[in-house]
Amino acid sequence: MSLIIASQLEPGFNDNLRRHASAPTVIEVPDAAPWDAARQADVLLIRPGPSWKAQRQAPKPDLWPGKLKWVYSASTGVDFYPDWLLDAPLVTCGRGVAADEIADYVLSAIYHHAKNLEGARVRSLSEWRQIPLGRVSGSTVGIIGFGAIGQEVARRALALGAHVTATRRRAEASPVAGVRLLPLEEVVASADHIVLALPATRDTQNLINARVLNRAKPTAHLINIARGSVLDQAALVEALDAGRLAFATLDVTEPEPLPEGHPIYTHPKIRLTPHISSNYLAVRERLFDKVSDDLSRFVRGEAPSDIVDAAAGY
Ligand SMILES: NC(=O)c1ccc[n+]([C@@H]2O[C@H](COP(=O)([O-])OP(=O)(O)OC[C@H]3O[C@@H](n4cnc5c(N)ncnc54)[C@H](OP(=O)(O)O)[C@@H]3O)[C@@H](O)[C@H]2O)c1
Repeated sequence: MSLIIASQLEPGFNDNLRRHASAPTVIEVPDAAPWDAARQADVLLIRPGPSWKAQRQAPKPDLWPGKLKWVYSASTGVDFYPDWLLDAPLVTCGRGVAADEIADYVLSAIYHHAKNLEGARVRSLSEWRQIPLGRVSGSTVGIIGFGAIGQEVARRALALGAHVTATRRRAEASPVAGVRLLPLEEVVASADHIVLALPATRDTQNLINARVLNRAKPTAHLINIARGSVLDQAALVEALDAGRLAFATLDVTEPEPLPEGHPIYTHPKIRLTPHISSNYLAVRERLFDKVSDDLSRFVRGEAPSDIVDAAAGY
C-alpha cells in the first residue's frame, strides 16, 4: 500500500519519511489551512499551530474528513485543534515522545524549589548566612494525571527517595510499583510537590480550583506542565498571596502566552517558562521513530499506537 501523507512537519522530517519502507508520497501542506489536504491525502500528520487554534470554534469544513484514513497529531494533547478533527476514521497522537524530557523538567523544578541554591548564593561576606534547605528524598510528589509523563515523573521521584501519590481518570492499577493511587483531593493534601500532568478536556477544565487548592499544604509547590486550562489561575494567585500555597512553576498558561502586564509574569512566587518543557527539537528523532513504526503497523493492517479516544478527549 503506498500512502499519500500530507505533513505539517519540517522538510527534513518529511524527507526521512519518504525513505520509509512503504515508499509513501509525502506532500508538505501549508500551515494556513492544513485541513484542505483531506481532499487528496490518506494520512494527515499535524502539529498544533495558529491556523488550527483559530479554527477551534469554526464549523466542520464540508470536505472533512474527505479521503483521510488517519490523522496523526505530533502533540499528545489534541485540545489545540477543533473538535471536528476527531471526526476522522482514525486519530492517533505522539504520546510519550517527550515524556522523559518533561519529567526531567519537573524534577529540575522540584530540586530548584527544594534546594533553593539561588536563594542561598553568597556574593559577599555579609551574605554568609545559613538558611534551611528543603528535601527531595522523604518528600511526597503528588501527580495528577498518571499517563506517559506522570509515570516518568514517578519513576524518577521514587529513585530519588521521594514518596509518590497519583490520581488518574480510570479505575486501573498503577503501572509503576510503589505509587499510591488516591482520589484527587488526597493527592493534593499529601503532596509537597503537586504535578499537573493531565489532558485539557471538558472534565478537566479548572479542575484544580480554589476548593482543591485549599487542600494543599501551605508549603506545597505546584508544577503545571499540562495545560493552563486545567488550573484556575486566579485561584492559584489568591492561594499564593494568602500563603496557602508556597510556590508555582508554570510551563503552560491560559491563554498562552498571557497578555502583557499579566500578574503571573512578575509574581514573586511563580516561575513561568514559555511552554518549553517538552524540549521540542531534542525529541524530533523519537517522534520520527514513533511515526515510522506506526506507519509500518498501519500498512500491515495493524492498529498504530496511541489511538485518541474521541469521547474522553485524549
Ligand atoms: N508542556 C508540554 O510541552 C506538554 C507536552 C506534552 C503533553 N502535554 C500535556 O500533558 C498532558 C499529559 O500528557 P501525557 O503524555 O502524560 O498524556 P497521557 O498519557 O494521555 O496521560 C493523561 C493522564 O491523565 C489522566 N486523566 C485524564 N482525565 C483525567 C481526570 N479528569 N482526572 C484525573 N486524571 C485524568 C489519564 O487517566 P487514565 O490513565 O486513567 O487514562 C492519564 O493518566 C497532555 O494531554 C498534554 O495536554 C504538555
